[in-house]
Amino acid sequence: MAVASRDPDRAASFAAEHGIARSFGSYDALLAWPEVDVVYISLPNHLHAGWTIRALESGKHVLCEKPLALTVKDVDAIRAASDRSGRIAVEAFMYLHHPQILRALELARDGALGPLELVNGTFSFLIGHPGDPRIDPAMGGGSLWDVGCYPVSLARRVAGEEPVQVAAFARFDERGVDRTFIGQLHFPGGLLAQFDSGFAAPDRERIEIVGRDATLVLGSPFLPAPDGPPPTLTLWHGREATTIDVASVDHYHAEVEDLTAAILDGTPPRIDLDFSRGNIATLVKLDRAARASHGSTAA
Ligand SMILES: NC(=O)c1ccc[n+]([C@@H]2O[C@H](COP(=O)([O-])OP(=O)(O)OC[C@H]3O[C@@H](n4cnc5c(N)ncnc54)[C@H](OP(=O)(O)O)[C@@H]3O)[C@@H](O)[C@H]2O)c1
Repeated sequence: MAVASRDPDRAASFAAEHGIARSFGSYDALLAWPEVDVVYISLPNHLHAGWTIRALESGKHVLCEKPLALTVKDVDAIRAASDRSGRIAVEAFMYLHHPQILRALELARDGALGPLELVNGTFSFLIGHPGDPRIDPAMGGGSLWDVGCYPVSLARRVAGEEPVQVAAFARFDERGVDRTFIGQLHFPGGLLAQFDSGFAAPDRERIEIVGRDATLVLGSPFLPAPDGPPPTLTLWHGREATTIDVASVDHYHAEVEDLTAAILDGTPPRIDLDFSRGNIATLVKLDRAARASHGSTAA
């Protein structure tokens, strides 16, 4: 195993702390090391696509943090690099590997909720530091890209198709970065989804999948234990609640196992590039919709 940083001392001290055999003072040096098979990219958002492509072209498989890219064109460039190199690129939506999400999707698809009407989602936390890359417009900042991408990805997973229409409003800061975002999606099959994301309110997360017969509520859909509270799935029939037991697992471990199976056995990765492309396309549309509505209300 190896780690790279722009700062060789930082790389070396991280390697020593975590028992990693090799450290490199540049990302290129790590990519040039032939013993690396897979690279995990945990850089700020604006660097994801470029380094994913460089890693693929160096013959490495890639697990890249979300969002995989900031434009659909960049996702297509990643796909082209993946096809050329025969290496896999996967977006690190760890929560989609958690048994609570797999169970929720199963219940929604198997009719346990009746015909699906609505997906409702929330994900926010507070950002206080002005230098945080998440609020830097040059680094792909904004709560939509950072945490809004989670409920959007889950709504698309439930729908199993791409939205035909989106609407959005946001509170932008003085640099044009959204600190609070609300969005709505309309899917061709009729399903509606709405979500909010933000950096201006303390930790909140929740998903409701609403069907005509029942509603499924996930209390900590994105960061369950050990990052947050234990996973909870509650099925509401009217005012009657049934708790559904789900295992508490490390979803980061599960995402690595999924990628390992894709590399070694050729199993299709749970998060493929079509899914990532659809997500980025939706996020771009939502961002544009919020900016357009902001422009019209400001005028
Ligand atoms: N899936 C999840 O659970 C999860 C959780 C948190 C974050 N994320 C995602 O992971 C990514 C990184 O987030 P993070 O919180 O780890 O970010 P971070 O600590 O701000 O940055 C990660 C590293 O990127 C490197 N870097 C390279 N160019 C940089 C630049 N121009 N400015 C700042 N840093 C730069 C730095 O490492 P060196 O200087 O050492 O090279 C820095 O330590 C984001 O895309 C975020 O969305 C995912």
